[in-house]
Amino acid sequence: MTVPDPAPRVLFVCLGNICRSPTAEAVLRCLAPDLEIDSAGTGAWHVGNPPHAGAVRAGAARGYDLSPLRARQLAAADFHAFDRIVAMDSQNLADIAARKPAGASARLSRLMDHVQDAPRAEVPDPYFTGDFDGVLDLIEAGCRGLVRDIGR
Ligand code: 4NP
Repeated sequence: MTVPDPAPRVLFVCLGNICRSPTAEAVLRCLAPDLEIDSAGTGAWHVGNPPHAGAVRAGAARGYDLSPLRARQLAAADFHAFDRIVAMDSQNLADIAARKPAGASARLSRLMDHVQDAPRAEVPDPYFTGDFDGVLDLIEAGCRGLVRDIGR
């Protein structure tokens, strides 16, 4: 008898944890409800805050509920508590890698690394661009690729 692999634990990380990573958390929860999923920010400005109204609105229009989520900052324990830490852009990835404790096993990637022939490597920050809908398109594609890559 083969014992199934335990469900991978996935942490999405962006800068503020109010736009991109909570959106990815809500999308992946719909695509792969058996996974343990969370999100965090490299920065602490918005700790305890709900997601940005633009992200909540864009998500709700496609059936994703971001409203219960609250921002938190990436912590050292996350590198042991999660199997995969998925960054939204290259700056996030560099910041995460710089904080990774020696010996921690979490695998790091960018969300767009999971999309074959992705038109771009980064999920641009809608906090600055205002394009919450375009970001949601990228995040949905990234989450579909992530599910495929982790074999769920
Ligand atoms: P996020 O967007 O990283 O996608 O959550 C941001 C939200 C807030 C800030 C920066 C990015 N900020 O500087 O407050």
